[in-house]
Amino acid sequence: MAADKNNNKQPTAAQLDEVKEAVRKLLHQPDYDDGSAGPVLVRLAWHSAGTYCAKTNTGGSNGAGMRYEKEGGDPANAGLQHARAFLEPLKAKFPWITYADLWTLAAVVAIKEMGGPEISWKGGRTDFTDDSKVPPRGRLPDGAQGAEHLRFIFYRMGFNDQEIVALSGAHNLGRCHADRSGFQGKWVNNPTRFSNQYYKLLLANDWKKTTLPNGVTQFVYVEEEDDGAAAAEEEGGEKPESLMMLPTDIALLSDPAFRPWVERYAADKDLFFEHFAAVFAKLLELGIKRDASGKVINDENAEDGYRSAPKKSDTATAPGDQGPGQIGHEARALKEENDKARRRKEGAKL
Ligand code: HEM
Repeated sequence: MAADKNNNKQPTAAQLDEVKEAVRKLLHQPDYDDGSAGPVLVRLAWHSAGTYCAKTNTGGSNGAGMRYEKEGGDPANAGLQHARAFLEPLKAKFPWITYADLWTLAAVVAIKEMGGPEISWKGGRTDFTDDSKVPPRGRLPDGAQGAEHLRFIFYRMGFNDQEIVALSGAHNLGRCHADRSGFQGKWVNNPTRFSNQYYKLLLANDWKKTTLPNGVTQFVYVEEEDDGAAAAEEEGGEKPESLMMLPTDIALLSDPAFRPWVERYAADKDLFFEHFAAVFAKLLELGIKRDASGKVINDENAEDGYRSAPKKSDTATAPGDQGPGQIGHEARALKEENDKARRRKEGAKL
């Protein structure tokens, strides 16, 4: 059957184990952000899947459309080139894996490594060969908005209110960067450890609206020396940096249907982990059609099977070995940027 012609390229469990191990090894990045590539890898997987539209059955993690300027250049995806660049050495080592599988698998491994739940992951996504099936920009949420916007965005993907609150718990991880989204800061004191701390802090702290020098409005909480709310933090010891919340995070508190879930997840970490694992697995499967055996049967997969795109070039002068419109060369540029940052750091210490 023609549809199965590349089926033999489906990775085996043993091959995938090697990739998982390699992801675990790359998470430790002392010169990057809070020392881990984990949070930005989670965001990469979420943004690759979160373009899904249930009504038109377009978008989602199949295809790895973010390799193309049309999707990768969406301002909502600013900064995710770091995540993609972290994974490029793995693509070089395991050229058989599709970018779409690599990006989603990396997030699941990262969440587990950062202390989060085991999330079920199924492979078989293919890589688009051009940008014709890449969804339009503007499908990802805007942190400056409120509850109505969250419902508009997440209902489109097929999620309900409980799932919106559970997914937002990923903001236990990572931080906002002024040069990416315009927002600045982290949600919790230890942003590389997956927990339900985000919900606890949402409820415990008195969040104050503030406008950053760049004109962006967010919420902040600056811990006073002897403030009783400091007890809400699990991790102690160090003097905390001020924490932040996006307007969309605060909307979970003020909305009568969202808030009960914030309260439940703050009180019950196991419940949050269980719900998060289920909803993140659902997110990664949006738009992926499978047959009874689990094989992906989307049109593009049926046509060409498991089609792994060639690794993007690392050098700016390389000939066009990428599909039309594909963003290339970002790994090298970012490596240089990170090296420079490291040298600056070392210089400052001298
Ligand atoms: C509810 C709507 C959401 C909004 C408005 C939103 C918005 C944002 C913004 C503005 C940032 C900062 C980006 C930067 O400046 O680098 C961010 C970071 C992040 N988001 Fe969300 N997000 C949402 C939902 C989610 C979901 C569903 C997940 C995953 C399940 C997620 C995972 C993350 C992670 C892990 C980071 C940290 C990335 C890093 O450290 O580089 N977010 N989000």
